[in-house]
Amino acid sequence: NQLEMELEAIEKGGYEHFMLKEINEQPRSIADCMRGRLDAKNGRLILGGLRDYMNKFQNADRIIITACGTSWHAGLVAEYLFEEFARIPVEVEYASEFRYRNPVINEKDFIIAISQSGETADTLAAIELAKSKGATIFGVCNVVGSSIPRATHAGSYTHAGPEIGVASTKAFTAQISVLTMMALKLGYQRGTLSESRYMQLLSELETIPSKVERALKLNDKVKAIAAEYKDARNFLYLGRGYNFPVALEGALKLKEISYIHAEGYPAAEMKHGPIALIDEEMPVVFIATKDSSYEKVVSNIQEVKARKGKIIAVVTEGDTTVRNMADHVIEIPETEEAFVPLIAVVPLQQLSYHIAVMRGCNVDQPRNLAKSVTVE
Ligand code: G6P
Repeated sequence: NQLEMELEAIEKGGYEHFMLKEINEQPRSIADCMRGRLDAKNGRLILGGLRDYMNKFQNADRIIITACGTSWHAGLVAEYLFEEFARIPVEVEYASEFRYRNPVINEKDFIIAISQSGETADTLAAIELAKSKGATIFGVCNVVGSSIPRATHAGSYTHAGPEIGVASTKAFTAQISVLTMMALKLGYQRGTLSESRYMQLLSELETIPSKVERALKLNDKVKAIAAEYKDARNFLYLGRGYNFPVALEGALKLKEISYIHAEGYPAAEMKHGPIALIDEEMPVVFIATKDSSYEKVVSNIQEVKARKGKIIAVVTEGDTTVRNMADHVIEIPETEEAFVPLIAVVPLQQLSYHIAVMRGCNVDQPRNLAKSVTVE
């Protein structure tokens, strides 16, 4: 009815869809997530939920991360973060596989369960299983007071605010923000991160909201690219290192809301299969920022170009090498390699959003999907 429609329009804050509103909220939701926790100037990083469990966390034999969907992708980013900064081995598990595998878990394992809704049935069951084996369970959830935070020993909320669009956007970047803070804190406490490096990373982390703000300004450019590729049947997303999970997430966003088949792959694995798919009809989205695998990704771009694939590349501002090779470049602000996912995912969210809108899809409520999956 009229009143409901007006209420919904108010909730959308002037945006056409919740998803677009939530994409654009990210500078604020990331800042909200860090507020009261990160104070780079004074070298302070405090996660209240972690305090009582820091000892267990620091002395864990390994970290097991369990989640589903987009939250699982945040878990993959965290694998790189924890291993790089804290030097603790990490396993990232789909909750649905983990719970039915009779996994080896013991009291020295530190389990991190990631969930926007805090209600995902498989994730909840994985937690109960790990708990029964004596492991410590830490939740990274968005919805306050939901089932997962109640089932865990401790946790940190992501504070992204309500996410209505079924395709997760701001919850994903908030999850990564919490996990980044956890990894930095852990690395510092364990001495695997020097004081000066720690301080440097904290100050850079504080700049992320403003860099995301800058990335959002690419919207018109991304929309123009969307118009060109909206009728493609398939998409490939490629990245390496920290950008591999970003590739997976970019592909998932496109599948979820535009119903275009998309696959995310580690760029180096392309030659073991997906390269066979490349022809002049195939758009390939590369995340090719200036980082430790940049040169390798550039060679992967050349391989796609040689087979006439269409190249859309997310690059670091000022990059000219890739600009000369790609059909389209999307330039994002430079940051620490470990923080790139927080920025690089933004244009990929926009790309899927615009393609879905242009195809007439129901962006906020895609067919067959639910915001939270409370059954198996
Ligand atoms: C559903 C949603 C996804 C979400 C996944 C995990 O499939 O459609 O957007 O990533 O569940 O949800 P959770 O609430 O546990 O993060």
